[in-house]
Amino acid sequence: MKNNARIETKKGFFEIMVTVNGEKRELSVKNSEFLLDALRRHGWKGVKKGCDTGDCGSCTVILNGRPVLGCLVPAVAAHEGEIITIEGLGTVQKPHPIQEAFVESGAVQCGFCIPGMILSSKQLLDRTPNPSEAEIRKALDGNLCRCTGYVKQIEAVKIAAKKLKKKP
Ligand code: FES
Ligand code: FES
Repeated sequence: MKNNARIETKKGFFEIMVTVNGEKRELSVKNSEFLLDALRRHGWKGVKKGCDTGDCGSCTVILNGRPVLGCLVPAVAAHEGEIITIEGLGTVQKPHPIQEAFVESGAVQCGFCIPGMILSSKQLLDRTPNPSEAEIRKALDGNLCRCTGYVKQIEAVKIAAKKLKKKP
């Protein structure tokens, strides 16, 4: 991760260059702003603002291949970074296999925690295609859900692993 934002435009604002969901974008961010707020302000509302203190995982995005909490990462620190948000995975018409698995397993209830859960799952499955239950639990450890009992999400990741294996 590079730490220097490119240009200070007006007082307290910097332009950073980031790749979000495969698209290169220049974003104007405040020097005091966290990545969560900067992404939401620029339209990526799939990044959820829950506790805003690093406790719930709902603001999880993948930055340079690792899941990070958007509410703890200064936006300027994402300069020249590659970000994946839930919008980069799939659409309602063409969901990503992990999204399908979460729906099929019944893990999605109110849906608020789901973007973070799915991105944490994606990062796990990218590096560990056949995760054990312990590995799944560890990967989802920081993602809180107020609707379910953390059983269906585990099931969802197992289903997703099978789906991804079948993908050509
Ligand atoms: S909003 Fe970032 S961890 Fe809760
Ligand atoms: S599905 Fe509602 S918080 Fe998780």
